[in-house]
Amino acid sequence: MSSVISVVGIGADGWNGLSAAARDTLSAAEVLIGGPRQLDLLPPDACPGERLAWPSPLRPAVPGLLAAHEGRRVAVLASGDPLFYGIGRTLAETVGPDRLHVLPHPSSVSYACARLGWAVEETETVSLVGRPLASLVAAVHDGRRVLVLSAGADTPGAVAELLRSHGFGPSRLRILEQLGADRERILDATADNPPPGPVDPLNVIALDCVRAPGAPRLGAAPGLPDEAYEHDGQLTKRHVRAATLAALAPAPGELLWDIGGGSGSIGIEWMRTHRSCRAVAVERDAARAARIVRNADALGVPALRVVTAAAPAGLAGLPRPDAVFIGGGLTAPGLLDACWEALAEGGRLVANTVTLESEALLAERYRRHGGELIRLAVAHAVPVGGFTGWRQAMPVTQWSVVKTAAEASATTTSVTGTGDRG
Ligand SMILES: C[S@@+](CC[C@H](N)C(=O)[O-])C[C@H]1O[C@@H](n2cnc3c(N)ncnc32)[C@H](O)[C@@H]1O
Repeated sequence: MSSVISVVGIGADGWNGLSAAARDTLSAAEVLIGGPRQLDLLPPDACPGERLAWPSPLRPAVPGLLAAHEGRRVAVLASGDPLFYGIGRTLAETVGPDRLHVLPHPSSVSYACARLGWAVEETETVSLVGRPLASLVAAVHDGRRVLVLSAGADTPGAVAELLRSHGFGPSRLRILEQLGADRERILDATADNPPPGPVDPLNVIALDCVRAPGAPRLGAAPGLPDEAYEHDGQLTKRHVRAATLAALAPAPGELLWDIGGGSGSIGIEWMRTHRSCRAVAVERDAARAARIVRNADALGVPALRVVTAAAPAGLAGLPRPDAVFIGGGLTAPGLLDACWEALAEGGRLVANTVTLESEALLAERYRRHGGELIRLAVAHAVPVGGFTGWRQAMPVTQWSVVKTAAEASATTTSVTGTGDRG
């Protein structure tokens, strides 16, 4: 049987801040593994074990390092709570949770909430450590409290600039440095007037989000205003988009293929429903593909993957989707079949079109597989002389269907596996 690995959370308060159980574990360890800064926090006389600093890059080194010390009492040091954006996750994925004995320390979020008097469960956390700044946008709503885990000394300034550019300049921004250490300090500012001096690289940023008067308000539900997007006319318009997202029915963790991505709105709003939702937009036009990237950044989902290629060829090798949306390319030979085959049991397919040629294809699929075939005809009230009348948008035909178990076992698929985060 493989030996258990202890994972001990340690804070900026070092040895003095550890529980008796954590100290005993570290004192008894034959091998101590951690970052050099963490290892330096352990008094040599109390912790005589062999000390090993993590190599860089860390992740590929983990299995070999643990295997090399199999059978010895190994303790791994982690910063704060090991399973909160920490090494604990890598270890659990590498050796399995049953081989870990985790002794948590308060996380930076617990410390920050303690200083601010904020309820942890009411506080959204966004990590910018190794993640793009733009991912913060989706969490910023008027009146919300957000804790940002900083990547370093430059993060507070970058966050302030992002807030200003999105109409949240009046937001209060507190920078909590060196939480739990003697050098702990809290700087109080706003995004419009960030602190002028240098900031400690070890910091967490607490945001009280305040929208500037007149700045656009973006809700959390699908059906954002069309003006929220940069587009060239190739955009599924707001009301049809809301109905399309309802038919696609995203659930946390699911993956969407947005084929004929256009401006990217379907994949973007799919991802905005939950931070664990993933999407791949496939768009043959390079200028539009670049626009999708800009829209995804502006709307807080920079992890949207964009494939610049024509479908169905561009679908090869993509991870199996939970749902597929076809907004362009319906008449491309083999496209509908490739999408259908890629879906597993319970997978959803939704296709929209405004042309008779594509509508004929959808009607034929509807006869074969069932589902729902609907027509969405949206009209907007507009001025007609001194009066008001309806301006009818082109009606959109939508076919949506859920793949059954029988259909799934009848289709052989070239797409295998899930879990690629692209
Ligand atoms: C009506 S737009 C889709 C709008 C999009 N849902 C949105 O909201 O921005 C159709 C898009 O499909 C793209 N397209 C058409 N055929 C395609 C194909 N075979 N593969 C990939 N993209 C395709 C076009 O370039 C166009 O950008």
